[in-house]
Amino acid sequence: MSIDSTWLRCPNCFHDLEPITDRVLGCSLGHRFDLAKHGAVTLLPPKAPRTVGDDRHMLEARAGLLESGAYAPIVDALVASVRGSIARGDDDAPPPIGSSADADVVGTQSDLRIADLGCGTGYYAHGLAAAVESGSVLLADRSPTAVRMAMRAVPGSTGVVLDLWRPLPLRDVSADVAINVFAPRNPPEFARIVRTGGLLLIVVPTADHFIELRRLGAALDVPEGKAELVTTQFSAVGFTPLQTTRVEYRLTTDVGIRELLVDMGPAAHHRSDGGTSHGDLAVTVSIDVVAFARA
Ligand SMILES: C[S@@+](CC[C@H](N)C(=O)[O-])C[C@H]1O[C@@H](n2cnc3c(N)ncnc32)[C@H](O)[C@@H]1O
Repeated sequence: MSIDSTWLRCPNCFHDLEPITDRVLGCSLGHRFDLAKHGAVTLLPPKAPRTVGDDRHMLEARAGLLESGAYAPIVDALVASVRGSIARGDDDAPPPIGSSADADVVGTQSDLRIADLGCGTGYYAHGLAAAVESGSVLLADRSPTAVRMAMRAVPGSTGVVLDLWRPLPLRDVSADVAINVFAPRNPPEFARIVRTGGLLLIVVPTADHFIELRRLGAALDVPEGKAELVTTQFSAVGFTPLQTTRVEYRLTTDVGIRELLVDMGPAAHHRSDGGTSHGDLAVTVSIDVVAFARA
């Protein structure tokens, strides 16, 4: 099995999980969790309210869209952020990445432990793992289908089905880098798992994201000021804001791409025509990458 149990704690009692056999993880209090055939483990807390992740239709649409390269500039921005934090070393502002008293920080490390929280198809984790030297990659999502797809995209990764709204079955200070791309956020839990000096990258849409599709009634509104809200929420739990990078470009879309854009998101549940009645259409992609260091 390709699971790195050093990421994991028990969702029931929060003791560390260790391999019991090659197909079973367990904690010292006797809680046991079977690995699925493809190697992922489901670690949901007891009596959790039922949350659902993306369904197969949405995930396949997302995979098709991402494979087209439509969001390649976003993965490039994530890679640049991580590389920047490595390159920054101990000289440049902003601190504290690479500049704390702790020598073992992102700024000096090459075998990063990378967690993708709300990984979807694993597109961004794959891009990061290919671009920087990663020691261990954790892929976490509520959707078992997503985790399975993501594990295929990132061979050797650790896949966990979990609920980001709940206390996470992940150990304290287990991540050097955590990414969260268009996915639910849990500030106190992210603060617990990213180690001091570690890097957190949150990707949120701006109010202009997909604005042309919204005018056609084929995308949901994005409230103004998401990046500012995220900055406030994460600053309050011990993250130091580093920078917010706007990634904005126009994507020429044909009907097929527009259908994928609509189908991969929540608007898929109440879509109108998905903009399908028009020919080629330039659609604005506008997102912020909000970068934090764990103080
Ligand atoms: C918009 S998708 C983004 C996926 C991926 N980060 C990407 O950008 O391609 C949101 C992801 O969050 C997952 N998700 C939704 N609710 C969740 C929850 N409560 N816990 C964990 N994951 C959740 C969905 O299954 C989905 O994969």
